[in-house]
Amino acid sequence: MSAFDVIILGAGAAGMFCAIEAGRRGRRVVLLDHAKAPGEKIRISGGGRCNFTNLHIAPERFLSDNPRFALSALKRYTQWDFIDRVSQAGIAWHEKTLGQLFCDGSAREIIAMLRSDMEAAGVTLVLGAEIGAVTQAKGFQVASSAGMFTAPRLVVATGGKSIPKMGATGFGYALARQFGLGLVETRPGLVPLTFSGEMLEETRALAGLSVPAVVRHDKTAFEEGLLFTHRGLSGPSILQISSYWREGDEISVDLAPGGALAAALSEQKAQAGRVEVQTALARHLPERLARAVVARAGVSGRLADQTGRALDRLATEAQDWRIRPVGSEGYRTAEVTLGGVDTRDLDARSMEARKVPGLHFIGEVVDVTGWLGGYNFQWAWSSGWAAGQAV
Ligand code: FDA
Repeated sequence: MSAFDVIILGAGAAGMFCAIEAGRRGRRVVLLDHAKAPGEKIRISGGGRCNFTNLHIAPERFLSDNPRFALSALKRYTQWDFIDRVSQAGIAWHEKTLGQLFCDGSAREIIAMLRSDMEAAGVTLVLGAEIGAVTQAKGFQVASSAGMFTAPRLVVATGGKSIPKMGATGFGYALARQFGLGLVETRPGLVPLTFSGEMLEETRALAGLSVPAVVRHDKTAFEEGLLFTHRGLSGPSILQISSYWREGDEISVDLAPGGALAAALSEQKAQAGRVEVQTALARHLPERLARAVVARAGVSGRLADQTGRALDRLATEAQDWRIRPVGSEGYRTAEVTLGGVDTRDLDARSMEARKVPGLHFIGEVVDVTGWLGGYNFQWAWSSGWAAGQAV
């Protein structure tokens, strides 16, 4: 039996960050993971460049049953703190768009920084460790294929269910249940949406086409790229809205953001009525898309032949396209898992379970999910940091 001050399960972003902070405070830390390498999701994130944080971190950009929970950790360890850390490690970075910060080089630089900080902080990293039973008797005992570990503090950082083929498991949720913590229902987030029937035929015909769009669900709207796929719709605007969408809900898509299309078409009609509607619409949309929208609106012929009502219908099909996804691509491709350990059962400052002293949950396993764009890593750093000060 190996004795430590802190056992951390899961060597992802949150687990490694917590390990560093606890190690720096002089705690003897062991970090266990069943994977062969730490930070596998960091490695593949942001197209291999890791979108490690966002300049515009704000609590309203996170989804949770308890939206104020994340505030404390996000305020105590901010995006500016992490940016300083990255800069001090000599990692070059840039803002891509909408405050999203990426490495100039590779996501591996972030992993290397974390590994080197862990080493300096004296953290024991055990990889390839299958975790077995976790019990509590004078501290916590963790059985694993790498031996038995015991410590008065246990931090669960095993992430969500997204991308099982990369080692994601529901382990953290089962552990929360075992210790009597509540769970908010989990579902895939930041995920492409799928369609059936005529709508699927339309997206298939346009597969590969990417356009700027505003996608709305109730009062939430995102203006970012939209991508037509063989299964339905993807691209940042769709991934963002997918976290808000529930089965059965409708979303609205504006494929020509930034202008009143009906008025523009009327003006075109007055000036060049002999132009075909499809050609007129192609001034505002890619040609293939214009053809599809015209077909959907059921209009044809020249602009001059169109009634005001027909032009309105055309504009509505382009700017308020109401669609009902049948589902999502699921955990296979979802970037995150919504829901998780109920934050009402955790202390916002230490991430410690209120009913089980010494047991902490951090990162994606907790019911806090950020927008696309570096928000989820910032939650991993901030919650990992908070627990790291407390264990
Ligand atoms: P994370 O999933 O990183 O780590 C959990 C660890 O626990 C893993 O190492 C896993 O092997 C281990 N584990 C799980 N079950 C176990 C078990 N039973 N026994 C032992 N170990 C176990 N976010 C962002 O902000 N910017 C971005 O650019 C991206 N890009 C991105 C791309 C893709 C393809 C995905 C899938 C996700 C992103 N994300 C992202 C989201 C981001 O990766 C995610 O929110 C964080 O990695 C969560 O960090 P955690 O440490 O909580 O879990």
